[in-house]
Order: sequence, then structure tokens, then C-alpha cells
Amino acid sequence: MYNPKTLNWSEEMGTGDPEIDAQHSYLINFFNELGESIRKGYAPEDIEKVLKIMRFYAEWHFEKEENCMERHHCPAAKINQNAHAVFIQKLNTYQKEYEQSGGSVELAIKIHENLTEWIVNHILVVDTQLRPCIADEK
Ligand SMILES: [Fe+2]
Repeated sequence: MYNPKTLNWSEEMGTGDPEIDAQHSYLINFFNELGESIRKGYAPEDIEKVLKIMRFYAEWHFEKEENCMERHHCPAAKINQNAHAVFIQKLNTYQKEYEQSGGSVELAIKIHENLTEWIVNHILVVDTQLRPCIADEK
């Protein structure tokens, strides 16, 4: 049985921008809910849902975050943009895999684990580089 870790948004994930933090916190909750729904019993809709919501995330949240980094002259702006492009490639790969295979519990777990790990790591390593840039302006 799948036993996903429950994630919690914490201060160490803070970017200094309350709007971006709220969006990250939403995402973390979304991943918790998705993990729970796979644990209770996989359904192909789980994969469809994650891919749809992640696409929305990529198009909407990334743009906001990239603009925010530009605005604050954050030195991680370019690294952040490149990382976002890698994430979109990952989504495209999973989308293809889903369409070709019709989905499976193994694929749902792989996507859930991989994207969850990516997002937490990305927030901690890249997005938080915004914090000193915003703090410097205060
Ligand atoms: Fe980012």
C-alpha cells in the first residue's frame, strides 16, 4: 500500500512574498490530498487531476513568481526560470506516459513522489532565494 509522507508548509519555505507563500501552501495541501486519495484507492482520475492542476500551476504560478523575482532583482531569477522549464518538460513526459499506458497505480505513485519531491526541493533551494532580496528593500 502507498504510504505518502504528509508535508507541511513551514517558515523555512518562506519567500518573503505572502501571495507566493500562500500559493506554495495550497500546492503542498493539494499534494497531501492527492497522496491520500492514491493511498485510499487509485483511480485514473488521480493522474488526470494532478496533470491538470500542475499545468495550471505551471502557467499561472510560475509566471507570477518569475515576475516577482525580476521585480526584486533576485540573482536566482534565471535559475528559477530554467528550473520551471524542466518542470514543464517533466509534465509533458508524464502526460505522454499517461496517454500511452492509460494510467496505473505505479504511474500515479511515481508522479506523486517525483513532483512532490521536486516542488519541496525547489521551494527550499530556489524560491527562498527571493527572501533576502525582498528583505533588503524593507
Ligand atoms: Fe520557482
